[in-house]
Amino acid sequence: MLKITASCICGSDLHLFHGLISPDLPGQTLGHENVGVVDEVGSAVHWVKKGDRVVVPFNISCGACEFCNSGLWSMCDNANPFYPKGPGAAFGYAKLLGGYDGGQAEYLRVPFADTMCLPIPDGVRDDQAVLLADIFPTGYFGCDIAGVKPGHIVAVGGCGPVGLMAQMAALLRGAAKVYAFDRVPERLAMAKKIGATPVNVDKEDPVQRVLDDTNQAGADACVEAVGYEATGKGVMAPGPKVEAKPLVVLETLMKVAKKGAIIGMPGLFAPTPQDKEGRVSFPLGAAFTRELGFRMGQCNVKNYNRYLMRAIENGRVDPSVVVTHREPLENAPKLYEQFDKRIGGIIKVVLKP
Ligand SMILES: NC(=O)c1ccc[n+]([C@@H]2O[C@H](COP(=O)([O-])OP(=O)(O)OC[C@H]3O[C@@H](n4cnc5c(N)ncnc54)[C@H](O)[C@@H]3O)[C@@H](O)[C@H]2O)c1
Ligand SMILES: [Zn+2]
Ligand SMILES: [Zn+2]
Repeated sequence: MLKITASCICGSDLHLFHGLISPDLPGQTLGHENVGVVDEVGSAVHWVKKGDRVVVPFNISCGACEFCNSGLWSMCDNANPFYPKGPGAAFGYAKLLGGYDGGQAEYLRVPFADTMCLPIPDGVRDDQAVLLADIFPTGYFGCDIAGVKPGHIVAVGGCGPVGLMAQMAALLRGAAKVYAFDRVPERLAMAKKIGATPVNVDKEDPVQRVLDDTNQAGADACVEAVGYEATGKGVMAPGPKVEAKPLVVLETLMKVAKKGAIIGMPGLFAPTPQDKEGRVSFPLGAAFTRELGFRMGQCNVKNYNRYLMRAIENGRVDPSVVVTHREPLENAPKLYEQFDKRIGGIIKVVLKP
């Protein structure tokens, strides 16, 4: 049992907030990005001790199955009681991902604690470590699956927390230039602060911009960090009331990508209550003709969090620059509204019980 000291609101919570993921939500505690101090350990726990300060990945993984043992922690066979052999498990993500309660709360029960808990060194603050539960590893994962290498030109769709972390990760991996697409001014300004090149998609054609800058060659690698709630030009407010254009960012990146490039897709494309297979119409011919690659899925946080922790501890990067709000847990309802509408300069929220 963890006494929570920091938990975040994530863009993934917005899909739940919009009622898109699962109709079985009422009564569930949200929150899959969690840091805390161990308060109590069960009899099967050997290494984690009361008093340890730890960060917990959003994926719940047994540590023993074939998938955990091959680094596919998000695909664990044993952690999801509702869908064994299904899509793995996570905190606070409804029945689809196991029905576990999350950490936007005072306490959190952490299953498979020895596998899950990563100790936090003294030199790393809670508001830095909590970004290792999801978004920093997830941004890094987006670059990893897209094959970002030193000297690459990289295009990242989205300057939400995940997009910004992908931009930071691309630079950490040695990218020569990172384009950052969005339309929210404060988020584009944050991209610039991180060292990326912001492109406001409502004011400038991102495809034209990247092609013109690269002698029509395009980007070596792309990351889609928006997901299926992407909205089209001129539409500011997200959510079910506006017509989402799920593929608008992906299709932009397909045109931005150099021939043969891979588009890493951490942005979420989930089954919906209307369509259990999350079916969308997709320009497969265009992808085939230019030999594009696509890799996607939940981040396997445990493949990255230990090493990114060291990068923070040694002062190499500080992902906490994207934290705009540090507030008490009881302000969560107001902050959900604000984060959903992307108003008041909100980017990343850390809640403290
Ligand atoms: N794969 C994983 O493991 C994983 C982990 C965490 C989050 N996610 C997913 O990543 C996505 C992003 O998360 P987030 O926390 O950054 O969310 P967010 O909602 O805060 O950010 C999304 C951003 O996309 C921008 N956007 C929308 N339409 C756009 C368009 N047409 N062009 C450019 N930008 C556009 C929005 O303005 C916003 O800034 C979500 O789908 C989330 O569920 C996936
Ligand atoms: Zn998250
Ligand atoms: Zn497993």
